[in-house]
Amino acid sequence: MNTEVLRIDTIATHHAAIMRAAALLRAGRLVAFPTETVYGLGANALDPVAVRRIFTAKGRPASNPLIVHVADPTPPTNVAAQWPETAQRLAKRFWPGPLTIVVARRPEVPDEVTAGGSTVAVRCPDHPIARAIIAAAGVPIAAPSANRSTELSPTCAEHVLKSLADRIDMVIDGGPCTGGIESTVVDVTGDVVRLLRPGLISVPMLEEVIGTVTQCNAFGQGSEAVARSPGQMAKHYSPRTPLRLIDGCDLMDDVLEAVAAGKRVKMLPFFGPNAMPNEPAAYAAMLYARLHELDAQAVDLILVETPPDTPEWAGVRDRLTRAASAG
Ligand code: TXA
Ligand code: MG
Repeated sequence: MNTEVLRIDTIATHHAAIMRAAALLRAGRLVAFPTETVYGLGANALDPVAVRRIFTAKGRPASNPLIVHVADPTPPTNVAAQWPETAQRLAKRFWPGPLTIVVARRPEVPDEVTAGGSTVAVRCPDHPIARAIIAAAGVPIAAPSANRSTELSPTCAEHVLKSLADRIDMVIDGGPCTGGIESTVVDVTGDVVRLLRPGLISVPMLEEVIGTVTQCNAFGQGSEAVARSPGQMAKHYSPRTPLRLIDGCDLMDDVLEAVAAGKRVKMLPFFGPNAMPNEPAAYAAMLYARLHELDAQAVDLILVETPPDTPEWAGVRDRLTRAASAG
């Protein structure tokens, strides 16, 4: 199929593009659109055939469930069987925004979305185009990141096309994403709230609203997070180029060593003319764009200076650790 690209830059193109996207989604087709975190690949979450198209386009294992996106920050009673007090407090504080909340599912949500599980992940994105498309479609929208499975997530329309051109029906180009890494995922179905994927909404921010949060996002075969959230398997979010995380004090030594071994090396340091920002939100906003850029160059190795081990950096560190574990 030919992927149609609609760019939104004026109010007039805005309305027409959103109506086209909504019509395609209602017809069971796939539309990639911007959210505040990364671009999502959307399908009607209540249409099992449409949802299966997502898995085919991405090459995603059917065992990995999808996040359902809703237009409004109100209790998502059309997909959630229960909306506990903790979910409500989190939604009130962080929606619209980069927080995904896992709750008990309603039977109307197809098994394709939940990977056959009894829960559904829900999020109200903080992006005017995403919310307008979901509202115009009039149905909840299942949307993973708009990339082939295990590849880097896309933070602009060009990244989506590089990975999925001719495998999806449409890309709505709304410019670059401001967040840059995928949403924080929490499970509120148990007695304790569990962090399944760290993101820019940090554990201290969550705990301020709901008290203690249990972290079970450490990855690896057999870990609790992988059992509860299959997308947490290690090989994920990976550039094609091997990537290593290096402490700042060792960085120059490692660069010199790799160069001496004849390797073409690029680094993402916190110092020098190409320094990465030393603030997590600004770092996250450019991380994937930098990795996509380096992947497109003839580079043998990417050396990344390890960010600080503090809760605010947990989301960024998680993505970097996964990227490093693939190579
Ligand atoms: O920021 C984001 O969350 C982006 C944008 C497009 O919204 N979406 C995204 O989707 O990152 P995806 O499919 O790449 O990651 C979804 C994550 C996976 O780790 C998956 O295992 C987990 O959410 N997940 C989905 N449904 C779940 C459920 N019912 N229980 C536990 N984990 C779930
Ligand atoms: Mg993804």
